[in-house]
Amino acid sequence: MSTIKKILKPAIQRFYQHKAKTKLSELRNINSQNTNKIADSIYATLKNNLNHDEKKWIDKIEQKRKSLNVSKDPVLISDFGAGDANDTRTNNEMNSGVLIKKTIGEVCQTASKPYFWSLLLFKLIREFKPEISIELGTCLGISGAYQAAAMTLNGKGKLVSLEGAESLATLSVEHFRQLGLDNTSVVQGKFQDILTSVLEKNHPVDFAFIDGHHDEQATISYFEQFIPYLSDKSIIVFDDISWSNGMRQAWEKIENNKNVKIALDLRAIGICMFDKDLKNKHKFRITMY
Ligand SMILES: C[S@@+](CC[C@H](N)C(=O)[O-])C[C@H]1O[C@@H](n2cnc3c(N)ncnc32)[C@H](O)[C@@H]1O
Repeated sequence: MSTIKKILKPAIQRFYQHKAKTKLSELRNINSQNTNKIADSIYATLKNNLNHDEKKWIDKIEQKRKSLNVSKDPVLISDFGAGDANDTRTNNEMNSGVLIKKTIGEVCQTASKPYFWSLLLFKLIREFKPEISIELGTCLGISGAYQAAAMTLNGKGKLVSLEGAESLATLSVEHFRQLGLDNTSVVQGKFQDILTSVLEKNHPVDFAFIDGHHDEQATISYFEQFIPYLSDKSIIVFDDISWSNGMRQAWEKIENNKNVKIALDLRAIGICMFDKDLKNKHKFRITMY
């Protein structure tokens, strides 16, 4: 980052935070318990509000992230996703997987959700207290650890996380164990092969985080697969909705789906809320960062 950008960053962040707070008041005006909960989660994330127990858990996970970030251990990954935003992987390639060799540090630095967004997942889970949360894309387990830690503090809830690469699935199980998060299970396999059976065994789904296979059609198809298994008031968070044109198109289709009552476009991620008690659809666009 250039020196000028570094100097300006706090001022830009303050500007966006101020704008975000105005939008949060609009969200609160809808006056449903759940929109207030979303607004509270976003506000707490922006302010980095943590109580003593929350801080203890988050420090522990960030300590883990730190050690993974510097790990030079190699890891061989079968990648069933879309690759980089500029990649043009065919369906065949995504289906058979592309073999990639990296260090654990490289994987953690590039693929794990940064602190800010992981904290938002944590705060959403603290507010909504889901019984069942499903994650698509475990990787090394960082975002999963945030969700599971929030559920531990809630005193209820379990995380089922899906990961295609065998190597990463094995590592994440070990990381959850080291962190003492026994409310997690990792199911290894391609989302397209295992999602239905995972949903059959684990529903109604209260919360889901979709963070893998950033392909337009695949994202829409996973969203549609979730719908019959969702609880009456549930949340799905989509990562990287602005990552490529295809992902933008997928998001537009998802936010316009009739079952989605609140759609929040936070630029990097999208949050959909399903709430049968809300008659009208509300869409918000908030730049937070
Ligand atoms: C961005 S990473 C997830 C990062 C993780 N949620 C975190 O923040 O800690 C995406 C993961 O999804 C997995 N993945 C991508 N496409 C997949 C597919 N079609 N089936 C199964 N796993 C897939 C990749 O192997 C990768 O580990």
